[in-house]
Amino acid sequence: MNTTFERDLEAKGFIDVDVDPTIDLVSEINRLKKEKNAVILAHYYQESEIQDIADYIGDSLGLSQQAAKTDADVIVFAGVHFMAETAKILSPTKKVLLPDLKAGCSLSDSCPPHLFAKFKEQYPDHLVITYVNCTAELKALSDIVCTSSNAVQIVESLPLDQKIIFGPDRNLGAYVKKKTGRDLVLWNGACMVHEIFSQDKIDALQDAYPEAKFIAHPECEDHILAKADYIGSTSGMLKFTIEDSSQTYIVATESGILHQMQKASPTKTFIPAPPNNLCACNDCPHMKLNTLEKLYNCLYYEQPEINLAADVILRAQKPIERMLEISAQLGL
Ligand code: 13P
Ligand code: SF4
Repeated sequence: MNTTFERDLEAKGFIDVDVDPTIDLVSEINRLKKEKNAVILAHYYQESEIQDIADYIGDSLGLSQQAAKTDADVIVFAGVHFMAETAKILSPTKKVLLPDLKAGCSLSDSCPPHLFAKFKEQYPDHLVITYVNCTAELKALSDIVCTSSNAVQIVESLPLDQKIIFGPDRNLGAYVKKKTGRDLVLWNGACMVHEIFSQDKIDALQDAYPEAKFIAHPECEDHILAKADYIGSTSGMLKFTIEDSSQTYIVATESGILHQMQKASPTKTFIPAPPNNLCACNDCPHMKLNTLEKLYNCLYYEQPEINLAADVILRAQKPIERMLEISAQLGL
């Protein structure tokens, strides 16, 4: 970073430059994408207009697989910081951009790497599995990374006598423990978005729509998961609603996924599970920091860029690649 303008951009974490209101953002983004040989990868929790312009929309596993195999020169990651870091780790020679550098993650924040390193020291004979929702530094302290799509299978792929630490999500960890019957040592972290669902309001919705299926993400708390007809990653939930014959679903995860569910099954009804506040649906404040304007600016200025220390990339690559290998072997 040299110029005052660039330093200013870095401090803000996003390109705070007004976009000409007369330009057609969608066609300009598509033009810049071609000109720069860029690819836009978007998570299901992004605003609908960002999902609609993306080259690939997916869950954390799908997005990692795409980031590892793309031949684009520039990856624009419409998601949160740890996802863009994962893309950089998998494609270190490519330029990885995040529309808003401040798009963090409460779950990732709940596990500071220096504290995790001390925690890990207490269990020297344990293997460390970390959920992908964590910093690059934390991945560098891990043996295998997992996502909500493959956490159960990755644990099951290890010998029965293998001792395991699982972090940072205590809810996904508890779910994996239950599914596999394995005794995992859990880090006590959680996602603010998935821990705010109101049991009472979900019960009331189920009373109002007795025919509705209740589907939930494994980052939700155990008492919410206990009521679910289906538990899975965002792409798992989407697939379930496409293949299942019900007409109505109550969906306990971030509300951005409803856009793809509704697009894939236009005649079905999707009701977001309500949180414990006055809102009707649950948005991730970090995911929703990205906007179409910021995406345009980030492609135009090629900023903010994700940069990581070479040694962190090297150490974090192994556990992520191990996850991708196991997933490929299992056909995930
Ligand atoms: P998946 O899309 O991998 O299920 O992850 C959900 C999530 O919380 C991402 O932040
Ligand atoms: Fe992080 Fe939760 Fe937002 Fe996912 S939904 S990015 S886990 S804060």
